[in-house]
Formats: sequence, C-alpha cells, structure tokens
Amino acid sequence: MFAASVASQAATDLGRRWTIGMSQCNLGEPWRVQMNADLQRAAAVHPELKLVFKDAQNDTLRQRAQIEEFINSGIDLLIVSPKEAAPLTPPVADAFKRGIPVIVLDRRVLGTSFTQFIGADNRRIGRAAGEWIVRRLASNPRVQAGGKAHVVELKGLMTSTPGQDRSAGFREAIKGQPVEIVFEADMKWLEPEARKEMESALAVHRDIDLVYAHNDPGAHGAYLAARAGGHAKDILFVGIDALPHEGQAYVMQGLLAATFEYPTGGVEAINSALRILHGEKVPKELSLPSRVFTRENLERGGEQLP
Ligand code: FRU
Repeated sequence: MFAASVASQAATDLGRRWTIGMSQCNLGEPWRVQMNADLQRAAAVHPELKLVFKDAQNDTLRQRAQIEEFINSGIDLLIVSPKEAAPLTPPVADAFKRGIPVIVLDRRVLGTSFTQFIGADNRRIGRAAGEWIVRRLASNPRVQAGGKAHVVELKGLMTSTPGQDRSAGFREAIKGQPVEIVFEADMKWLEPEARKEMESALAVHRDIDLVYAHNDPGAHGAYLAARAGGHAKDILFVGIDALPHEGQAYVMQGLLAATFEYPTGGVEAINSALRILHGEKVPKELSLPSRVFTRENLERGGEQLP
C-alpha cells in the first residue's frame, strides 16, 4: 500500500518540470486562505507545476527561515506574500540574486530585487475609501451643523506596505474635509486586536460616527466591540477585502456600510510564474483592479473604482 502510493507519487512527479515555493506569511485570516486556494486552483490545471506551501504563522523570523529553506531546496520560482517589508527584503533579495525568479504578492518588500510585484493599489483604495466616507458623512448632524464627523481609523500592521498605503491614501482624501480622526490604532490586521482597540476608543469617545478599518476582520472586530457596548446602531463601519463570504456578506447583513475589494492575485501569480518559467519577460509591476461594495450595489456585483 505504502510502496504503491510512493510509486504513484513518483509517477505524478515525473511529469512535473517546475517546483514553485509559496511563502505565505499567515493563514489566520480568511483572505489568506483564499489566496492559497486561488493559487492552488490555478496551478492544478498545469501538470508541469508542483506548488509547495509554507505558512509562517504571522512570524517574521519564521518566514525568513522558510524562504532560506526554499532557496536551499532548489525551487525553480518563489512566490512570497511577506509579513513585513524591511525584514523580509534580505531573504527575497538573496533568492533573486541566486537566480531564482521571485513574485512578490500583495505586501511589498523594499528595493527592486525581485522579478515582479502583483497587487492592487492600496493608496488608491485608501483614497477611494476616504472619498466615499466624506460623501457618506455629508449628511451627519455634526457636519450639517458646521462641525466635523468623528472617525476611528484601525490600521493594518504599519510595518507592512498595505497598512501604510491604506492610511496615506485615506488621509489624502479627508484632508480639508469635515472629518476628524478622534482615535487611531494599529490592530495589526487582526480581528481580536481591532476589537480590543475599539473597546478603548469607546471608553473615551461616546460619539463615534464611523470606523474605517484597513481590513474586514478589523471592521468586524470593531463592530463586535460596539455591539457589546450597545453602540453598533449609531456607528458606520467600513472595511477592505470584500471576500464574498466575509466582507460582502457583512454588507448584506447590514454590519458594514461598505467594503473595498482587495483581490488575492493568486491566479495572476500562477499565470506570471508560467510566463517567467517559459523564459518570457514580465513587467515589474502588475496592478490589480478593485471595486467598492455597498448595500445599494451588491446585487450588481459592486462598482469599479475610478
Ligand atoms: C490578511 C490581510 C488582509 C489584507 C491583507 C493586506 O492577512 O490582513 O485582510 O487585505 O492582509 O496585506
């Protein structure tokens, strides 16, 4: 039985020309589980590819070690979704300098020592979220009375580039607008952290109008804190990711006012990997589109960002 399964595994591996190592920073959020599933599904229709996953479990040092393990095991191409930009830059550059093509997915590293970066434009998403929030809060009583609406910003890990960009774009959009950030905190992309931070925000601010969270788990954590304190009905919640079974479902249930799509890039990464492995040149950046989902447009499949 054992011998037979080893033999059949060897037979399947015979047809495989290339091994791709995928270094995933964490699988705690549904969005990252979806990313791996998208990669797996796209690779499955190419028998010449073998895809090997490693999960760093949200630990930067573990992710550094896992990338080195991939390099030493002789992979043909590396896909990496790094937890943080600076500390993951050296191992990624090491792979690239040793001639292993590298696709950086979703979160960036520093510098240019990789083959291609794939991801949506987080600054643009942050700006679109800010513009949407300003429009949505125009009817707020405080704004109508000539004052400012009170907003909480729950940030993604600020040593990761999507956190930095989603904040910068948002702040660009609300500059000079009747919106005041009354509380901000780094919830590190994690729902329990977001819930804790929102409890702190509610302890000092009784009059929060809206929460802008850098991802849907963060927005949901904030919602749970507000609900527990009896404030959920008075506050609007906006998130990012828009998975059908997560953010879009929250919008449908009326928990979130809006969510902005952040595509995983899994399918695009496998397409690029194949092109690179076949010796084609690919552009240094592949920018993915995004949509906004609200109760009004959910049935139409959301609305493309301008
Ligand atoms: C999951 C996640 C997503 C977010 C992305 C940013 O770990 O936090 O929710 O959009 O990473 O890199």
